[in-house]
Amino acid sequence: MKAQLRALEAEALARIRSAPDLAEVEKARVQYLGRKGALTGSLRDMGRLSAEERPEVGKVANEVKGAIEAALLARETELAGTAETERFTAEALDVTRPGRASTRGGLHPLTLVVREILDIFVRMGFGVAEGPEVEKEYYNFEALNIPAHHPARDMQDTFYVAPGVVLRTHTSPVQVRVMEGQPPPVKIVAPGKVYRCDSDVTHSPMFHQVEGLLVDEGVTFADLKGVLASFLRVYYGPDTRVRFRPSYFPFTEPSAEVDIQCVLCGGRGCRTCGGSGWLEILGSGMVDPAVYGFVGYDSEKVQGFAFGLGVERIAMLKYGVDDIRLFYENDLRFLTHFS
Ligand code: FA5
Repeated sequence: MKAQLRALEAEALARIRSAPDLAEVEKARVQYLGRKGALTGSLRDMGRLSAEERPEVGKVANEVKGAIEAALLARETELAGTAETERFTAEALDVTRPGRASTRGGLHPLTLVVREILDIFVRMGFGVAEGPEVEKEYYNFEALNIPAHHPARDMQDTFYVAPGVVLRTHTSPVQVRVMEGQPPPVKIVAPGKVYRCDSDVTHSPMFHQVEGLLVDEGVTFADLKGVLASFLRVYYGPDTRVRFRPSYFPFTEPSAEVDIQCVLCGGRGCRTCGGSGWLEILGSGMVDPAVYGFVGYDSEKVQGFAFGLGVERIAMLKYGVDDIRLFYENDLRFLTHFS
């Protein structure tokens, strides 16, 4: 029986050592050491041995069992190591390969243009103010000398939010809020979004304006012209052609609109400038004394001028963009030109 056990050992060890994978090792374990396995069967037969033979055969059986267990463990460890090495090789990262560069974001062209505009006015000594986009009718209209039923309310198609509340149609209400909050002199610019029911290649229902207001003693129309012409020369270059056109705003008197020569067609006339060769970029004028009445300023003592720039128009002219809607479509092919 001892010889039988040794033969079983030799067979088991050979089988285990040549097992090609972990599944085969497991099969060998069941085959030799399992409940119905070969070694277990042999041990069961030991009952038939004499009392003298039993310890000796028992010792050999234990040795065989130990040898098979050791061989199983050794082969398992060996194969597990190989599997791990194979996995590491398959999943290996080549850390020496050049990286994939991530693209850097940039500011939106309108943000850039607002910043450039503010920068020029700040260098001229203007402070920066802000006001709400959801605005009381009082600030958007009444306090700017546009009473209810005044025909000027039709000049700007208004979005009404609630009775007495609108989406501001221009940044001019910030003028009133600033003057209410401080005595003269005032010298501010106020950037922000404004809303009108208006949409085509040069008009958008939401667009941006930068308001300007300067109030002090002895301010004249010459100051208004000087400040705006200086701004436009700095922004577009010293040879920029600009024209002041008489206009009407209920909150300024006299009023002027400022056009700049269309840079897209050089003044010959195109789709963007509607064939006129000029593009209107801002409204302006001397603050109407009626407005001072709403904020408690003495119109006999102070004078001032105000202006409202259309940021999109300024940007379109600066960068040769012929459709205002491009600013809002978030097309990266367009936006990356500016970053
Ligand atoms: C006003 O909004 C006045 N509040 C400007 C003003 C301020 C006048 C202070 C006097 C004193 P106007 O409606 O013209 O004016 O608009 C000013 C500028 O905004 C225009 O010159 C134009 O450049 C721009 N703009 C007007 N409507 C649109 C629109 N729908 N889309 C894009 N830009 C527009």
